[in-house]
Amino acid sequence: MSETKSGGLMGWIDDRFPATKMWNEHVGQYYAPKNFNFWYYFGSLALLVLVIQILSGIWLTMNYKPSGAEAFESVEYIMRDVQWGWLIRYIHTTGASAFFVVVYLHMFRALLYGSYQKPRELLWIFGCLIYVALMAEAFMGYMLPWGQMSYWGAQVIINLFGAIPVIGPDLAQWVRGDFVISEITLNRFFALHVVGVPLAIIFLVVAHILALHEVGSNNPDGIDIKKNKDENGHPKDGITFHPYYSVKDLVGVAVFLIFFSIVLFFMPDFFGLFIEPPNFEPANPQVTPDHIAPVWYFAPYYAILRAIPDSFGGVVAMGAAIAILFVLPWLDRGKVRSIRYRGLSFKIALMIFAAGFVLLGYLGTQPATELNTLWSRVGTVIYFGYFIFLFVYTAFGMEKTKPVPERVTMK
Ligand code: HEM
Repeated sequence: MSETKSGGLMGWIDDRFPATKMWNEHVGQYYAPKNFNFWYYFGSLALLVLVIQILSGIWLTMNYKPSGAEAFESVEYIMRDVQWGWLIRYIHTTGASAFFVVVYLHMFRALLYGSYQKPRELLWIFGCLIYVALMAEAFMGYMLPWGQMSYWGAQVIINLFGAIPVIGPDLAQWVRGDFVISEITLNRFFALHVVGVPLAIIFLVVAHILALHEVGSNNPDGIDIKKNKDENGHPKDGITFHPYYSVKDLVGVAVFLIFFSIVLFFMPDFFGLFIEPPNFEPANPQVTPDHIAPVWYFAPYYAILRAIPDSFGGVVAMGAAIAILFVLPWLDRGKVRSIRYRGLSFKIALMIFAAGFVLLGYLGTQPATELNTLWSRVGTVIYFGYFIFLFVYTAFGMEKTKPVPERVTMK
């Protein structure tokens, strides 16, 4: 056995477990670019929301009953009779939406600064896998209160599998575990929501951060800070994560918690967007709600689904809309990373893409009138058009970039 590296309890632990080594590698001696801005708060905020969801979820599970007869009642019991139950539930429902707010901003940052480009492809792919797992987690969680929207939302989404040729109907039945959505479906969704998917998310987040620390963080200038090192081998434009960014991130946490608390205490259903009105009624397989709409964070994809007249075509378009994110690092052949030094057309295209995504999100929550469907088609063309444009624009040398500085800028 090696000699004790330092004295005391820490030394004793370090001889048996790489505690200090891990701390230094990922926190104390992790050099991050010194020019991080507003957009760099959302990674640590996503971690915070993950912890909030796991903790509030554990406490909800203590009183929730995953059975067709008792699920809705048990949620009402949590809201009315369990001490602080209302708070725990609203933390969890607000947390679900907050997760997507934070993750969408986090992803947008990657688009702004080309953080998915080489050598961060795998980091981006782990991110995309987290996003898919998060959607599965939210979808299954939404079913658990066994309200009208839980039931009918699940009905619509699981039936989508049925649109796949040949295997579709069997696949839908396999997912449901029954011919119709029933307690069997509720039970398996409960198991996956509280154990299966959270485990996968935690594993993916660890992989995401390990990949980040292997290649190093990108930054608003898109410069590789490892190219400029001082005599000690540390990047000249880098500062250690702790204490510099641990303290900076705490400011983000404080501001985030203020917004989170305002929603949580004053508008927990957030105008019917975070908890939809039909979900205050128990699930009733005999009565379809007038207007079935997904929760806001799924709405852009739902709008893409409805933009295509043929149901299988819609499913393919929706799947493709998510799948295309995975190959983004290979579609963007741009020579510079950050929007600061990219061509004007890139800047305009990214803004149109963001506006198109918001438009699709709005349309996905609205009834499918003829006009809305038309606009959904426009949004769908914008969505896919961005990726096609990006490939053509960068692969055929059409982009006129600005010179990238040697060192990071601190504007
Ligand atoms: C539970 C969800 C997630 C957590 C906890 C998480 C956590 C983090 C953290 C802590 C960082 C470093 C700090 C920062 O750059 O903001 C980071 C960086 C990054 N994440 Fe995530 N992330 C999540 C989801 C995603 C998703 C869905 C994507 C994309 C599809 C993504 C893509 C990236 C990229 C590209 C970076 C590097 C950014 C850069 O260096 O410029 N992440 N993530």
